[in-house]
Amino acid sequence: MRKKLIAANWKMHKTPEQAQAFVSAFLPHVWEHTRDEIVLCPAFVALPAVVEATRDSQIGVGGQDMFWEKEGAYTGAISAPMLRAVGCSHVIIGHSERRQYFGETDETVGKRVQAALEAGLFVIACIGETEEERERNETEDVLRRQLSVLAPDDNLVLAYEPVWAIGTGKTATPEMAHEAHDFIKSQLDVPVLYGGSVKPENAAELLSRSSIDGALVGGASLDLESFTAICRAAIRS
Ligand code: PGA
Repeated sequence: MRKKLIAANWKMHKTPEQAQAFVSAFLPHVWEHTRDEIVLCPAFVALPAVVEATRDSQIGVGGQDMFWEKEGAYTGAISAPMLRAVGCSHVIIGHSERRQYFGETDETVGKRVQAALEAGLFVIACIGETEEERERNETEDVLRRQLSVLAPDDNLVLAYEPVWAIGTGKTATPEMAHEAHDFIKSQLDVPVLYGGSVKPENAAELLSRSSIDGALVGGASLDLESFTAICRAAIRS
């Protein structure tokens, strides 16, 4: 059976000091956890602290975004080699918040994913429909369009994150997630994580589905108890 991947997306939360304190408290809970992969994705400035704090553990560390060029006059940007240089194994690309607030498009997502894979990073590429798109019955069209810029790769996983479920407390039912995951896998044969209000109360049921290869966790990953409980749910599933 494939390992489940539980990734924490801390978004614009936690200073280096807070991130380091979280990891110190978290590690004893997952010290012997080898059945699943756990990846922490802090803000860029906290990456060195989290890499250092997780050094002798099984836990991976990822960036939340990156630019496709390796270096150059791109103010404010971070490249794949830079993420590698600070010790990242993973990177999240194309999160709906990047698409919504920072002008990310399918095309720029494709370029970032390609550059990240070429640099040897494991990529978590995010896709998902908005509430209006789901109501208009366009979910499959949207997913097909978002997937059209991606190609299967051993180091690529997708995160299906329905935009209406992110940070809203509304989770897709396991059936809805399963249906979307099945469709995604029929288009691109790679593992698919579910994201959108994953919490201790729904993690075990979502993760027990064979089509759900893990979870991308936002809000609930900021809290030690919640995130530990989600990782434990993955162990049991
Ligand atoms: P959420 O965020 O768990 O807070 O809904 C998930 C995500 O945006 O990756």
